[in-house]
Order: sequence, then structure tokens, then C-alpha cells
Amino acid sequence: MRVMVVGSGGREHALVEALATSPLEPEMYAAPGNPGISRIAQTVDIPADALTDLRDFAAEHRIDLTVVGPESPLIGGIAECFWEADLKVFGPSRAAARIEGSKVFAKEVMRHAGVPTARFEAFDREAPALAYLRTLDEFPAVVKVDGTAAGKGVTIVRDREEAEYAVRAAFAGKFGAAGERIVIEEYLEGREASVFALTDGESILPFLPAQDYKRISDGDEGPNTGGMGAYSPIMWMEPATYASVLEEIIRPTVKQMALIGAPYTGLLYAGVIVTETGTKALEFNCRFGDPETQALLPRLGTDLLELMIAAGEEDLAGREISWSAEKTVCVVLASEGYPESSSSGDEIQGLDRIPSGVYVYHAATEERDGKFFTAGGRVLNVVGTGASVIEARARAYAAVEAIHFPGMQYRTDIALEAMELEDL
Ligand code: AMP
Ligand code: GLY
Repeated sequence: MRVMVVGSGGREHALVEALATSPLEPEMYAAPGNPGISRIAQTVDIPADALTDLRDFAAEHRIDLTVVGPESPLIGGIAECFWEADLKVFGPSRAAARIEGSKVFAKEVMRHAGVPTARFEAFDREAPALAYLRTLDEFPAVVKVDGTAAGKGVTIVRDREEAEYAVRAAFAGKFGAAGERIVIEEYLEGREASVFALTDGESILPFLPAQDYKRISDGDEGPNTGGMGAYSPIMWMEPATYASVLEEIIRPTVKQMALIGAPYTGLLYAGVIVTETGTKALEFNCRFGDPETQALLPRLGTDLLELMIAAGEEDLAGREISWSAEKTVCVVLASEGYPESSSSGDEIQGLDRIPSGVYVYHAATEERDGKFFTAGGRVLNVVGTGASVIEARARAYAAVEAIHFPGMQYRTDIALEAMELEDL
């Protein structure tokens, strides 16, 4: 069978690798893929957002299943585009992908499903939003633009003045159409985790939780990024907390989506926060998380391809998913200037010196004359595996030390806390 992965980052590299090892022995394609992926799949020069070109390629090359990595093609309706041509795709419909595409929609789904989340109000005009702020006396608060804004659409505001500024900026068009509507919500405090679940529209098959590091610098300092590291498992999450994420957040959401006629199939990503008053949903994404996927998939003991096929055939009920007891630690290597900007064309050295027990996923690289160069913000994802967090972490950082490119930045505290917990 033939399987194509859409996307070009580290998440897609990890997906291609997991799918390629399926006992179904798929012939792997990736569009557009990257130099790392090109070692294990045939790369196809079609961008992830060229929906009809992707569909035509899939039809022509008789691709049996297309797995979509990033959110933007899903929000744009790639699933419908493929289904109309009788092609199979792993990922939600445009209507279901709104759970990531519109924060107002996601909050309404949560409200109707009774999912615990931050208290909120939604606005589509500036004046009522500003009037609401005048009645608000709890700060900090959070102002979010409705649409996707590359992780920049969420502002934590410390007082009314900052809140008004954020509201005015959104309605003045700072985020384009994404800011035509906004959500103002309660600020929640706690530890965050990412919980993924495969779903066929009705049944869910959860993944183990993973931890993501969003800020650029050690100690969670500096601006937000797409994710600077991840690890799995997360020892601090109690089994009862994990169960509550499944039963109070993910399952009711999947049920609600079916109820409103937008059944959710594919991978549902819940960003949750464990607060003193219970675990609450911060957001949903309509796809695998990046870089959490890179930390999770090396531990997967069940054939991902079979599970993805089952998700598309309403056949997840009764299936199980197994995980190795291994620990994984993923460190993201970013280029100079990230996240404000990024540097390209810097030569990467050391990729031939990677110790065993380490996976290196390419996230933004370019290959010329047998050499690798940086080609964007998050360049490589280095995943160490081991019997303990100490070992996984030591392996990841040993590999990081072996790799070099000018301006390389990374966090040195990924999974540090997990290692300390393990020591107790
Ligand atoms: P979102 O895209 O909604 O997940 O927001 C991105 C990040 O902003 C989250 O991972 C949190 O770190 C932070 N955030 C979002 N909503 C809240 C909230 N209500 N309270 C505190 N932090 C939040
Ligand atoms: N790691 C955050 C995300 O994938 O959205």
C-alpha cells in the first residue's frame, strides 16, 4: 500500500518514520517532506497548502492513505477535497478542524459539552469588548484572537490598560482576519500538558500525555515559540488527572462534535492545564503536536498505520495502544534569531556523529552537495531514549553537543524537572 504524509517538519519526519515501520510495509511518500524524510520516503515537490495538487498527485499515484501533519490544510478543507475524489485521508473535515481554526467555536463546543475550561466571553466588535473590560476586575486575564496566528494570538494581560491595548490591536487588524473576533478569558495557573487521542468520530484511543516547552529560554523565560522541547512520560500527572482529561475533556468534546454534525475523525490534541480547582482545557488542535509527537512516537508499540486506517473506518472501538517503558527527551535546535526571525543557510555539522539511542528529526533543513544547512526557525529535533529520564536526557544532550551550526540555540533544561522527580 502507498501512504503519503503532508508536511515538512520534525513532526512529519517522526510520522513518516513510524508509518514506514508498519508491518503493512507501505511505500512512503511525503509532500513536500525534507532532507531527513527523503531518506525513508519519496519526497514530492508539492507544498502542504496546495490542496488540489496534492489530491491530483494522490489520485494519479494511487495513494491509499494521506496523513496530514499541519493544521492549515485541514482548516482549509483538505479532507473534503480528498473525499470528493474518493481518496482516504487521516485528519478531520474542515467543519471539525474549526476546533483549532476558531477559538470562539472551540469555546462554544466546550461550553455545550460541559468541558471544564477558563470562563470566557466572545466578541466580534471592539466597543462591547471594551465595555466588558470595564466590568472586569480579575487580572491577569487572557485575550485571544479567534483564528490561528502562529502562536502569537494569545496575550496575557496584567491589567485593564494592557487588556484594552490587546483588544484594540486585534480589532485594528494586527492579526488580520484571525482577529475579527476575540475571546477574553480567565487566566489559569498550573502545569500544562498535551494529551492526544485518535478518534473515529465516536471512540477514542488516547496517547500518553507529553510535556511541551513553549518559551525560548531556560526556566520558561522569553517569548513563546512553536515548542523548544518535549518529553514523555510525565511523571507528575496522576493517573486520576489523566483519566479526567479523557473523560471530562476529550470524550465529551468528541461527542459534542458528532452531535452538532461535525464528527471529529483523526487526531485530537487537547492542551490542558492542571489547576488547584481541577484540570481544564486551554485549547484544542486538530493535528499532532510538534514537538510532542517526536517524543511520543519512538515509544509507540502499536502499528500507527493500522490505527490510522481504523480511525477512518469507524473501527477504533476495542483497540488498544501499547507504549514502551522507555523514556524520551526531545530537544529542539533552533536557528539564530528564532522566534522573532530565523536564519537560513548555516551549515550543520555533526549529523554523522549521532550516538545510538538517539533519533534526529529534521525540522527545517536543506541539503546541497551532500551537506546540510539550516532552512528556518526550528532546525532539528534531537530525541534521546533510555530506560530512565537521566539516560534519555544524557543521550539527547550528548547528541546535541555533537551537532553544530552558527547561532544554534536550544534549551538546557528540557525534562530537568522530570529527572529530579525520578530521583526521589
Ligand atoms: P492556546 O493557543 O490557547 O493554547 O494558548 C497558548 C498558550 O497561552 C498556552 O499554552 C498557555 O501557556 C497560555 N494560555 C492560554 N490560555 C490561557 C489561560 N486561560 N490562562 C493561562 N494561560 C493561558
Ligand atoms: N507544541 C504545540 C503545538 O503543536 O501546537
